[in-house]
Amino acid sequence: MKDYLAINRRNWDERAAIHVKDEAGGYRVKAFLAGADNLHDIEHAEIGDVAGKRIAHLQCHFGIDTLCLARRGASVVGLDFSPVAIAEARTLQRHTGLDASFMEGNVYDARQLIDGDFDMVYVTWGALCWLPDVARWAEVAASLLKPGGELYLLEGHPSLMVADERQPDLRPGYDWRTPMGQPLVMNESTTYTGDTAILTNTTTVEWIHPLSNVINAVIGSGLRLSWLHEHELLAWQFAPIMVPVEGRRTMWRLPDGFPKLPLSFSIRAVKV
Ligand SMILES: C[S@@+](CC[C@H](N)C(=O)[O-])C[C@H]1O[C@@H](n2cnc3c(N)ncnc32)[C@H](O)[C@@H]1O
Repeated sequence: MKDYLAINRRNWDERAAIHVKDEAGGYRVKAFLAGADNLHDIEHAEIGDVAGKRIAHLQCHFGIDTLCLARRGASVVGLDFSPVAIAEARTLQRHTGLDASFMEGNVYDARQLIDGDFDMVYVTWGALCWLPDVARWAEVAASLLKPGGELYLLEGHPSLMVADERQPDLRPGYDWRTPMGQPLVMNESTTYTGDTAILTNTTTVEWIHPLSNVINAVIGSGLRLSWLHEHELLAWQFAPIMVPVEGRRTMWRLPDGFPKLPLSFSIRAVKV
């Protein structure tokens, strides 16, 4: 547990280098550099007009979504603990000249690392599972907002995350809540994009957070929940049985005939 940051950072440094090369095409880096907006259909439909807003993007990876928000007219600060991801994000920013800057650091230190208050804290697709304490995360997110500012969170749904992705029937493989001090230790030799590159740093340390924990953390941080949505789409192929859905960017759903499950959820919460 005490080494979780170092273990996960090694894995993410390696993945960031693979993802930015984008040989599998899922991040649409070439299209982005040619001027495309890469946000998926869900966040596109939900975030509204961000032009003129100041946004903090937590766990921004190599910054492509951060820069898409800037392309929509926002002024954005992205934070991630992977030095490789942040270096790549800064390179993309220099190429595009968009209004974004990038900060390397642990998300739990975001308030100390990032100046100013924000209209929106933006967190999407695969952020919370790397964090042991979701209540502390929500406090950090809330502390970055100005009064009237909003948290937008879009995440994999815990109802799916408990499934054993290797089993075609997606039977439960993990407890629905991971104790803070007893994280899941995973080993995957490739990343989720479909890239064939073999990872050297295969181990990750992860947590499944029940939906109630996330919601109560957000409410407990002093934010007022505006809505909670559940979706039948996910941004990555969680399990081999999932099938692609073309849209603004490829997403994934369960195959025809499989019982429908919520695959992701989103919330919006305002600082009153
Ligand atoms: C699946 S990616 C999120 C992708 C993101 N939605 C995007 O814009 O592309 C998860 C990110 O979380 C970062 N991360 C994991 N643990 C972190 C921590 N404790 N502090 C900051 N960043 C962290 C990783 O480096 C990685 O870039």
